[in-house]
Amino acid sequence: MNASKARTVVLISGRGSNMSSLLTASQNGSCHIDIAAVISNRPLAPGLQSAAQAGVATECIDHTEFDSRASFDASLAERITSYEPELVILAGFMRILTPEFTRQFEGRMLNIHPSLLPKYPGLNTHQRAIDAGDTEHGASVHFVTAELDGGPVAVQSVVPVLKGDNADSLAERVLSTEHQLYTVAADWFGRGLLKMASNKGVLCEQNLKKPVILRNAQLEGVEPVWHKLLTSAGPLAQQ
Ligand code: GRF
Repeated sequence: MNASKARTVVLISGRGSNMSSLLTASQNGSCHIDIAAVISNRPLAPGLQSAAQAGVATECIDHTEFDSRASFDASLAERITSYEPELVILAGFMRILTPEFTRQFEGRMLNIHPSLLPKYPGLNTHQRAIDAGDTEHGASVHFVTAELDGGPVAVQSVVPVLKGDNADSLAERVLSTEHQLYTVAADWFGRGLLKMASNKGVLCEQNLKKPVILRNAQLEGVEPVWHKLLTSAGPLAQQ
């Protein structure tokens, strides 16, 4: 188990509610990470202000000032690296990343995506779940690889799709689980319990055959022998 907290850089593009909940959890000790900086690609991202108010270093690298995706990514990578992070967290970071970028942070970069991957990579996930008649929907935390929303999924939150849902009501229900989901995954990474090896998620030194499920704030799909370790500290310990 890692004694020191994982030094972390968070990337955002907008509201930053996931970033804020990670920041609160890291500052109150329920998530074993230490957020060194929050970087946005949009100068007006509301999340930049909340991070600054919470006393965290903030930066904006405006992608519109670069003439290519590769030059933006190179500059972003350089700024991230300057903080020497062990973990990079994408929290509503709305940029497609080049393989050169993802390779540089492979195994130590997480993303949250609002669907039960591999269902619905890309955009409009909530409407797509409704249109497909799905009865369950949710969010996934996965390691970032070169494939868009395609890296190994570690843990997913599951919510019901209710009769009469529209994309907004469903998005709200999913978001209400995302904050806990992301702090749980980041905490496991920070405690050295969650890793990526050979393009697979590894939890408690075991290859994950399928993602762990978080439903109604309870873990499913975890061997009893590991359950205590995964819930003895961190966000799930404080329920
Ligand atoms: C979340 O729904 C997340 O799943 C997706 O982008 C949204 C970000 O929301 N990747 P916020 O900026 O964290 O509030």
